[in-house]
Amino acid sequence: MTERILIIGSSGQIGTELVMKLRNMYGNDNVIASDIRPSSEQIMQSGPFEKMDIMDEQLLRSIVKKYTVTQVYLLAALLSATAEQNIELGWSLNMRSHSHVLDLAKDGLIKKIFWPSSIAVFGPTTPMENTPQYTVMEPNTVYGITKQAGERWNEYYFNKFGVDVRSIRYPGLIGWKSSPGGGTTDYAVDIFHQAIQHGKYESFLSKNTGLPMMYMPDAIRATIELMEAPAEQVKIRSSYNLAGVSFTPKQIAEKVSKHIPNFEMSYKPDFRQEIADSWPSSINDTHAQNDWGWKLEYDLEKMTSDMMKNLKEQYKITA
Ligand code: NAD
Ligand code: SER
Repeated sequence: MTERILIIGSSGQIGTELVMKLRNMYGNDNVIASDIRPSSEQIMQSGPFEKMDIMDEQLLRSIVKKYTVTQVYLLAALLSATAEQNIELGWSLNMRSHSHVLDLAKDGLIKKIFWPSSIAVFGPTTPMENTPQYTVMEPNTVYGITKQAGERWNEYYFNKFGVDVRSIRYPGLIGWKSSPGGGTTDYAVDIFHQAIQHGKYESFLSKNTGLPMMYMPDAIRATIELMEAPAEQVKIRSSYNLAGVSFTPKQIAEKVSKHIPNFEMSYKPDFRQEIADSWPSSINDTHAQNDWGWKLEYDLEKMTSDMMKNLKEQYKITA
């Protein structure tokens, strides 16, 4: 049977890249992009796009039926910093969108779901280094609370209703093809743009704040590998830890300096510092490695070089 895949949140940082990757794999017409706002020109022109507010459950169901969708990737959400500034929308969007999609599978309309969790699912009482899969989880941001509740919801729907839902606790994601959408880890993308354009950057996190991050090609590959894994290998239905690469603003600034001579980094922590301080510095992803063969490809050095190469081309800088 042909897979028909609906990506909800296709205009965001992950959706912009994931839609094109899945269209290459499954065929343009079999991957339906969807968002409350238009997606990239490449997405809009290469295949179907449906404008949809994920809060509208009836519209979601009519789109799923129209295209006989078999899989849904739910990417629409408010991220950590934005949700902290609008807690009611953060809670309602992140929770209701999830229920709407899980219920599609419960009611037999679709077969498989991807829903991302985050390092934000952990909190200040979690062990901060090499954070294990199973540990204390007391998130203290509205975003983290929705991810924690969402993980429990995933496992509940899997156990009670047999819903094939799969999930990754993404670290902060870094890519050059799209802009981040209001997270605490966004500095690690902004630094590249500011360094190339202006030769300096003011970080909103302090210099020694270590956080787990991941380059987008690794994140997209992990997502697809998890979704393609045989169901019996997906032993964790709440969400899988993925380690990525951990670094501080100071450490990434040192790598950027190798590509931008005289690069100047300064630090002016804002409200996002408190969020970052509640998250782990490094993650243990042994379960993902053992269950479905996960292996990281990009370390900080390799990621920095690739970001620089692609963004310099994008900004038409030859040096
Ligand atoms: P993003 O903010 O870049 O994109 C989210 C998209 O959802 C946007 O295009 C937005 O227009 C859309 N959207 C918002 N409200 C909507 C609505 N009512 N109906 C339909 N669409 C709506 O987010 P992202 O970085 O692509 O993240 C996607 C998912 O991955 C989220 O669940 C996020 O929590 C998770 N995640 C992301 C990161 C990261 O670093 N980017 C890390 C951990 C987890
Ligand atoms: N990168 C995300 C954020 O900062 C983590 O989920 O919100």
